[in-house]
Amino acid sequence: MDVLIVGANGKTGRLIIPLLLEAGHRPRAMIRLESQSEDMLALGAEPVLGDLEAPLEAVVRGHGAVIFAAGSGSKTGPEKTVDVDQIGAISLIDTCLAENCRRFVMLSSMATGAPERAPQKLHHFLAAKAIADAHLSASALDATIVRPGYLSDDAGTGRIRIAEDLGQIAGGGHISREDTARILAACLDHPNTIGACFEALAGDTPVADALAAL
Ligand SMILES: NC(=O)c1ccc[n+]([C@@H]2O[C@H](COP(=O)([O-])OP(=O)(O)OC[C@H]3O[C@@H](n4cnc5c(N)ncnc54)[C@H](OP(=O)(O)O)[C@@H]3O)[C@@H](O)[C@H]2O)c1
Repeated sequence: MDVLIVGANGKTGRLIIPLLLEAGHRPRAMIRLESQSEDMLALGAEPVLGDLEAPLEAVVRGHGAVIFAAGSGSKTGPEKTVDVDQIGAISLIDTCLAENCRRFVMLSSMATGAPERAPQKLHHFLAAKAIADAHLSASALDATIVRPGYLSDDAGTGRIRIAEDLGQIAGGGHISREDTARILAACLDHPNTIGACFEALAGDTPVADALAAL
């Protein structure tokens, strides 16, 4: 399947590319700058120029699935979080509907929809993610929402803990970006994850087993 990775040049997005190749999919990397193309080709993904703050029809057209791993990041202000993580995500979801790209895997965050489980500095981010996630859940897309805890750059173990609500404070539990990428990619091959929304942390259960048991 042709899979569009949105945020492919990001720390998590890059890790998704080899996993999709391994699973027999064709990863296509949505990037904002032509200068990022060489890196994407070297990783094994066809680059596609696109920006969540611009029209996306031509970018999405022809893909069977989208994995959303983008985000404005912590260095920008709250306005950019709304522009990218909320309005940009909603624009992408609506474009997927219009272009009949039915499968959508969203990288969200632990404590989205439960700001009382997060420090004040994350509230604007969690509010933007909550609006985007609600829009996705209410859409007719085949959606999965993955809500990891604090993302680390540690090597992945391939073992995780997932549940609708892991009851942790955001930042109180971690998971590597590598294992998060494994979850996002593996959701495509676990149709039982369609309609699911779950939190994820490092744990003891192999990714495939954890997803199959959802
Ligand atoms: N950090 C955490 O502990 C944590 C915890 C839970 C969830 N999350 C979620 O995980 C996401 C990914 O984390 P990460 O560390 O992999 O992020 P990252 O390295 O900052 O990557 C984010 C990617 O989004 C892209 N992007 C930004 N604005 C865009 C736009 N307007 N259009 C298209 N792409 C755009 C960036 O593009 P460029 O490469 O061009 O800049 C970048 O490639 C975060 O954004 C957050 O929503 C993070």
